[in-house]
Amino acid sequence: MSMHRIAIGNDHSAVAMKQEIMAYVQAKGIEVVNVGTDSTESFNYPIAGYRVARLVADGAVDGGILICGTGVGIGLAANKVAGIRCVTCSEPYSARLSRMHNNSNCLSFGARVIGVETAKDIVDAWLGAEYEGGRHEARVAMLGEIEQTQALGAAQD
Ligand code: RB5
Repeated sequence: MSMHRIAIGNDHSAVAMKQEIMAYVQAKGIEVVNVGTDSTESFNYPIAGYRVARLVADGAVDGGILICGTGVGIGLAANKVAGIRCVTCSEPYSARLSRMHNNSNCLSFGARVIGVETAKDIVDAWLGAEYEGGRHEARVAMLGEIEQTQALGAAQD
């Protein structure tokens, strides 16, 4: 499924990168819902991570892009929401494979880690890839099982 509508969120460390990435994604004809901060006043990353994750988990958008200083905290926050598979990337290969193999539905990166041109390459790789399903289905289902039950039947084998 290609993405037509995404949510974007960020903390105070990533305002400029968020604005540039938002414009970049909009220029591709993708609708972007901005739920991050547009102020450089301190803003706690879990708020933005949760807001994006909520929209994705509820099906209000097709995916989410999250940016904080490292991409780590905001990605961790998103991954606490059931149904979210957020990948934190500093290069495009992992972003592409996270769609193809893991069916990632959120992407995070760090405004203090990578430059905006690398961020655009990562976004291109992520948006341009499709989930392959097939042999990956059972593994992604296991992620859901762990999330839902805090256990994994196959791990007992
Ligand atoms: C904010 O200083 C910083 O901690 C945050 O942007 C992020 O890097 C956390 O993971």
